[in-house]
Amino acid sequence: MKDFDFKNSKTAILLLSHGSRLPEGKKVIEAYTNMFKEEYPDAIVDYAFMEIRQPDIPTTINKLTQENDLEKIIVVPVFIAHGLHTKRDIPKILGIEVEELDIEDSHHHHHDHGHDHHHHHHHHDHDHDEKAIDFDGEIILTDPLGIEESILEIIKNRVKDNL
Ligand code: NI
Repeated sequence: MKDFDFKNSKTAILLLSHGSRLPEGKKVIEAYTNMFKEEYPDAIVDYAFMEIRQPDIPTTINKLTQENDLEKIIVVPVFIAHGLHTKRDIPKILGIEVEELDIEDSHHHHHDHGHDHHHHHHHHDHDHDEKAIDFDGEIILTDPLGIEESILEIIKNRVKDNL
């Protein structure tokens, strides 16, 4: 028995990946999208990348809204934790109000983010900043994956496999 279903649903699901120049990230988010579709054949589900790689968020949202009669889009950042992307950049792209952020120190957060070079690159192409989302319905941005027993299981497996 399914915990929920999507029969006649006007809700779409958008799985969000960070985006990378290497292909692994695309394979993973594509796989989760397909696994979701397999489990919920009636669901309207697709993926997009926060940056670097296509399809970007507006591209996928506009495709979803053109192909389906939607009232709602649930955006799930497939990120382990909140960060500036989930708190600031993604809401901005989605047209969701950005809450005030308590950023410790801009120098440190650049180092923490660990890949500010691509942000630099991104700021030059201004690619997805200019693309508009064409949707009047409700867009919900969920929390990232966060702290879950099931994720701890994965961590334990990675360790176990290498003992
Ligand atoms: Ni980034």
